[in-house]
Amino acid sequence: MLALQAQDFSTELRNFYNSSLENIFVNLKHPEIKPGAIIASPSKKDPDYFSHWTRDAGLVELALLEAYPSSTLDLQIQLRAQAEQWLNFEIEVQKTSLTAFAGLGEPRFYVDGTVVTFPWARPQDDGPALRALAAMKWAEIFIANGKEAWVREKLYNSGLSEESFIKRDLNYIAKRWPEPSYDIWEETNATHFFTRVVQLAALKQGTLFAKQMGDTEAANRYQLQAELIRKDLNVFLVQGRDYISGSINYVAGWDHKVTQLDTSVMIAANLGLFDEEFLVKNKSYFINAAQKLEEFFAKNYSINLNNPYLATAIGRFPEDVYSGTGNAGFASPWFITTHAMAEFYCKMGKLATYKNKREAAALKEKGTKYFERTLLHRELGTNMLSEQYSRNDGSLVGAKSLTWSYASYLTAYLACEP
Ligand code: NOJ
Ligand code: NOJ
Repeated sequence: MLALQAQDFSTELRNFYNSSLENIFVNLKHPEIKPGAIIASPSKKDPDYFSHWTRDAGLVELALLEAYPSSTLDLQIQLRAQAEQWLNFEIEVQKTSLTAFAGLGEPRFYVDGTVVTFPWARPQDDGPALRALAAMKWAEIFIANGKEAWVREKLYNSGLSEESFIKRDLNYIAKRWPEPSYDIWEETNATHFFTRVVQLAALKQGTLFAKQMGDTEAANRYQLQAELIRKDLNVFLVQGRDYISGSINYVAGWDHKVTQLDTSVMIAANLGLFDEEFLVKNKSYFINAAQKLEEFFAKNYSINLNNPYLATAIGRFPEDVYSGTGNAGFASPWFITTHAMAEFYCKMGKLATYKNKREAAALKEKGTKYFERTLLHRELGTNMLSEQYSRNDGSLVGAKSLTWSYASYLTAYLACEP
């Protein structure tokens, strides 16, 4: 594969983009689910991922939203129809969680929309933020397509005391963001950079959206809280570290993350920081985090040691021991984190464009190179991606055909595309 000419490599990447969209749709149309549910993976055991996680679903929708503008009109119609089903499903799920143990922070639901009640890491407060963000972006598209009445009826009621779907999530975030919750990896209850960043992104979008809906009272409230989160991001610049810390203020759960190096910082940046001064001002803290993570995986995973010319396969965080089915101590690289690294460097490249063309090109080249891993480790023929790929031999590991793996490729590809 390394012998591929640049031209072939970019054709392969484009083709993989199309097949990733198709593979997402295969999961979305799974015959055993309620329409609108988004299974994390079709895998029902070892591991059981045959359920709907609010986070995964939100991220998948955000990726489809990124794909939307450059899609054919036919595909746009399909995407809108799917989004409407997802929104209807989330409206039900949100209602259900109101009376559930962790309220809107409930992270996981069965494919019929009922809440998962067995012991699980809860609450996970990134969920409502990602859901609201994607819902507002779809709402804009629906409004542009003549469905404002539907948006006002189903998604956002601007009446002062009225709670409705989007507003309920935004109100929850505006009130709850200072509180700790479980992290993106569902292991630790603490204060997380990723969660804060997506809460900020949702409240920013919420400020504009509420205004557009004529709800000034809410818009002002969201704006104020967004500003407070923004000011508080400095708490992740921990003394003695020259990189962004993934979490601070441990409360409960697993406390094995000693370094607090975490690729969720890259995912957070990609989702919500490239238009924020915090990233521009603290660029070296982000780059250092990315480099230190990469160095760790390069030294510790055999597939990296055995082939130093290929892009580094990237895991979640140095202390990770989740194998995809259990905690036996053999965490492997993940597609979503490898793609996050690609997206991060390509976006850093775009940021550099105005200042330094050569640096910009080098960053983009570095980002694009990570896709060598995707093409090498995908299942040939079906182009399927699991959750992880083995640190020893690159074979597919963990939940098969993980919806989020494809979604993360879409956004990374769009950030890196020639
Ligand atoms: C485990 C991941 O850590 C979490 O982020 C994800 O939501 C679930 N798997 C489902 O894909
Ligand atoms: C399953 C979670 O989804 C995964 O992210 C986590 O690492 C393990 N549980 C820890 O037990």
